Parts: sequence; structure tokens; C-alpha cells
Amino acid sequence: VRQNTPVAPAADDIDAQQRLVIPPFVEPHIHLDCVMTAGQPEWNMSGTLFEGIARWSQRKKTVTAEDTRQRALAAIAMLRDNGVQHVRTHIDVTDPSLAALEGMLAVKAEVAHIIDLQIVAFPQEGIESFPGGRELMVRAVEMGADVVGGIPHFENTRDQGVSSVTFLMELAERYGCMVDVHCDETDDPQSRFLEVLAEEARVRGMGAKVTASHTCAMGSYDNAYCYKLFRLLKNSGINFISCPTESIHLQGRFDTWPKRRGVTRVAELDRAGINVCFAQDSIQDPWYPLGNGNILRVLDAGLHICHMMGYEDLQRSLDFITDNSARALCLGDNYGIAEGRPANLLILDAENDYEAVRRQAKVLTSIRHGNIIMQRQPEQISYPA
Ligand code: FE2
Repeated sequence: VRQNTPVAPAADDIDAQQRLVIPPFVEPHIHLDCVMTAGQPEWNMSGTLFEGIARWSQRKKTVTAEDTRQRALAAIAMLRDNGVQHVRTHIDVTDPSLAALEGMLAVKAEVAHIIDLQIVAFPQEGIESFPGGRELMVRAVEMGADVVGGIPHFENTRDQGVSSVTFLMELAERYGCMVDVHCDETDDPQSRFLEVLAEEARVRGMGAKVTASHTCAMGSYDNAYCYKLFRLLKNSGINFISCPTESIHLQGRFDTWPKRRGVTRVAELDRAGINVCFAQDSIQDPWYPLGNGNILRVLDAGLHICHMMGYEDLQRSLDFITDNSARALCLGDNYGIAEGRPANLLILDAENDYEAVRRQAKVLTSIRHGNIIMQRQPEQISYPA
């Protein structure tokens, strides 16, 4: 993120007082249909991804469009208060009623004045392993999902994982959708659906529109395999989203000691010139009990977890929750501070990226299409004698 050159003030200008002015934060991977359901009806006691899916499967039985709408609106308010204006949400479509998707499509229009929403048709319980899974994906796209999702590592067999990726890529190409796959979200080093996704993207020339989320298994691949894999990843041009707080919580659960971090190779992808960004994934759901909409908190944790606290990383750290995320979401000319683009921007209570992350700087002003949608007074501390 670059600092902008000051311009001559006019009467109705906002004085940022040398503070950082940046494009809005982006939340590129969250599950708004699941937010604020932790413990309903039971808590995830093992802390694993798979128990999370089982707990959600219980809660899903009581999901309605209105229940989804209310919880999503509460989460969107948290995101707004933290300067987020662009969100990609995965919505579980392994539910024959598709009630959550219906609810979120209504929310998308309702919140357009504060946040741009991209909706992913996400097959939480599988495309091939769930009854009618393929048909539900097609219905979801026809109802208006913007992005096609997947979960190949959760399918019953390796072959089903591969065929699910081929199916979802074909579906996306046919309907002109973007793609964002929960890919290899496991510590199993044999989970290698990323290479299938990247090759499908490369052959179809769709790399810029394709994102691999999580890719936790890459944290367990050996270097010889990764050396070969990175050549394909680079050629494919696909994007990566890592959810460091979520993954370090859910992964490493089958290890004793030493315990793996369960996080993909964020720094290595970045060094290789591959686009990668951070996301929070959850706010208080069956997979992750915390979360508050503050993406700067995720950046802070991600920089620690991924060994990215060198001086140069800190100097450009906001890229991982702004520009890189915008690229993954294909926001193009709808993002960034430049003439002719939407007047969306933040004033952050910090002078640069390094200080923003160190001090966990608050967003003081959030401007959207030229209107102030959120303002906050800088914190005041007093010391009574
Ligand atoms: Fe996710």
C-alpha cells in the first residue's frame, strides 16, 4: 500500500492529519451463514475441522433464510466497523432447501450501500459424497452465486476429490463464474488436490479467476514435491487465501509433539510471485469460537505464524489484507485509490503499514462511494491524579 501525496485543502475536506489513507480492507474468505452459531446445539470439543462439519450439520437442520439474514447482518456490522467493504462469503449449499443461500442473496442487496458481497456456492459436505450434490451446485449458480466452491479433501475418495474439481471447473467456465475451492484443508501430505485445481485452471486459461483457499497440506508437503508444484502454481496464475488463525486452531490436531502449524506456505508463495492474502474464515462458529470482524488481528497473527516479520514484510504488510485480496476477488478497477474508481477509502490511525499492524490501528473513517459510512474518535486515555 502506497502513501498518497497530500493535496491542497478545501473547506469541506477531511483532514487526515498525516494518517494513512488506504483503500478499504477486504475479507476474502468468511462463512457468513455460520457466524454466531458456536455451541448450537453442541460445542466442538475436539477442535478439529471434521467435528466442526459434524456440529454444523446439526445446526443446519434449524437454518432458515431469516436466521441466516439476522446473523449475517450482525457480522457485516462488525466488518463495517473494522473498515471492510469487500467480502467473499462461502455459503453452504449441501442443503436441499438452499435456505441459507436464499437468505444471503437477499442480504447482498440489502447491504450494498456498506459492503460488496461475493457469494460462493460452497458444498460443505461434498459435491460427489453428498446426495444430489452436483445438482445443488448447479441450482446455486442459477440462483445467483458469483463463485463456484469445492471441498475435494472431504470427498469420500481421492477419485471423487479429483472428479469434484473437474466438475466445478466446468460449471464455473460454463456460467462465467469465479472459483474458490477449500483445497487440502488438512495436515495429510497426501492430499494433493491443489495440483488438480491449478492444472484445470492453467489448461482452461482461468487462473486469474481461480483461488485455492487454505491449502494447509502444503505446510506438510516435502520440499521436493513443492519444488515441482510451485512451477505449476506459477504457470497457472491462481490465487491463494490463507486463514492463519483458523488453520492454526483446527490443524495440528492429530499431532502430539512436535506439532505442525497446519498453515500453507504463505511467505514462499509470496516470494515466488504468486498472489496470496489473509482471511478470517469464521466468527464464532462450530470451527472457531472467537473472531470479531477485525482483519488486522488476522494479519498480526498471520505475520507471526508464517514467519513474516522481517522489516520488508512489515513495511508492506497491509497488502495482504488489501491489494492482494482485491486481486484474488478480481475487483479490478472497482478497487484502489485512483481517478475514475469508486471513492472508497479508509483513514487509519497510523502513519504506515508497520505502525498499523504493530499498534493494531483502528479505522477512524470509512468512506464508500464518497459518503462517510463509519467514523470513530481516536482513543482517549486519562490518568486521574
Ligand atoms: Fe472456509
